[in-house]
Amino acid sequence: YRRLRVALLGAGAVGSQVAALMLRHGDELADRAGATLELVGIAVRDPDAKRDVDLPRELFTTDAEPLIVGSDIVIELMGGIEPARAHLLQAINSGADVVTANKALLATHGPEIFDAADQVGAQVYYEAAAAGAIPIIRPLRDSLAGDRVQRIMGIVNGTTNYILDRMDTEGADFADVLADAQRLGYAEADPTADVEGFDAAQKAAILASLAFHTTVPLETVHREGITGIDKAMMDAARHAGYVIKLLAVCERITEADGAESISVRVYPALIDRAHPLASVHGANNAVFVQAEAAGNLMFYGAGAGGVQTASAVLGDVVSAARRHIAGGVGVGESTRANLPIVEIGRVTTRY
Ligand code: NAP
Ligand code: HSE
Repeated sequence: YRRLRVALLGAGAVGSQVAALMLRHGDELADRAGATLELVGIAVRDPDAKRDVDLPRELFTTDAEPLIVGSDIVIELMGGIEPARAHLLQAINSGADVVTANKALLATHGPEIFDAADQVGAQVYYEAAAAGAIPIIRPLRDSLAGDRVQRIMGIVNGTTNYILDRMDTEGADFADVLADAQRLGYAEADPTADVEGFDAAQKAAILASLAFHTTVPLETVHREGITGIDKAMMDAARHAGYVIKLLAVCERITEADGAESISVRVYPALIDRAHPLASVHGANNAVFVQAEAAGNLMFYGAGAGGVQTASAVLGDVVSAARRHIAGGVGVGESTRANLPIVEIGRVTTRY
């Protein structure tokens, strides 16, 4: 097989598992990709930090630039805006395809990164940037490209679902369960992103942009978190036959005159216990898609967690390798619809 050089930026909850799987399943990945994927190095802040898995010390460096230049595929799993943004742009401009799970970056600088990739014919893969291990980016971008998505209702943050679920089923304390979610690798480096709904809003912006073929700026997404939810509210919801879930709703709105706009919002909602979204437990996520021709589709699985998310990242790496070997063209983003976005906040709080 031809060798492709792969640089990994970040070896935390997700990155360390990506590296471990690449090293453990190298031969199988080569067969699937049609290329040997050579992990040339891993950029981190502290090469001697304790990792979730044992990895060869000689792969680690604090200097990302030499790794990026000359790599065919760059995987960004550092999180945050900088230096992740600068590294991705450098990778793209050096001729690499890039893989990222960084929803914070894509929801704020997506157009800049996609444009940079378009200009040089590179591709940006980001299946892990929404709903962890669940394949949802490709279905929305590719499989449903011939349909018209009407609405997406999703539980798209694993940490908050884990917290709310344990509060509901065990009467657990918010702070204790958040600490568990951090220990299990579900939470963001700053868990405010999870509990205040920023992470879910970023994912909602990404999903809505794909579903409606437009660009949804993050600041147009209505956002409420779960820090105001207490035991009394959980109990009241349960007694009324509901469960409280942090919900992302992305909706196409058609006026009587046929004019269309979209609304994207994230807030704690009351879900009827008979609704499929009510039985999403732990750090799992589910995305319920309603499309004009396809009808209702439900995507379900692990929404957070290092090894689970590594699955989605490696799927992207294999896709990038196949494209590289074929000398292929990018699949491209479809963001030309330019629909107006209306900010309407909570419209329905019960589902
Ligand atoms: P994490 O555990 O905080 O790991 C971040 C890694 O990046 C660490 O290895 C860290 O180095 C390195 N890093 C951070 N800033 C750096 C800098 N300035 N220079 C060099 N290295 C730097 O994060 P994670 O949970 O793996 O998440 C990574 C990305 O995946 C994020 O964008 C996150 O939103 C996304 N994601 C996470 C999950 C999940 O379940 N955890 C799921 C889906 C998507 P040190 O180790 O030396 O500190
Ligand atoms: N912190 C995120 C969550 C990781 O809990 O959903 C997955 O994107």
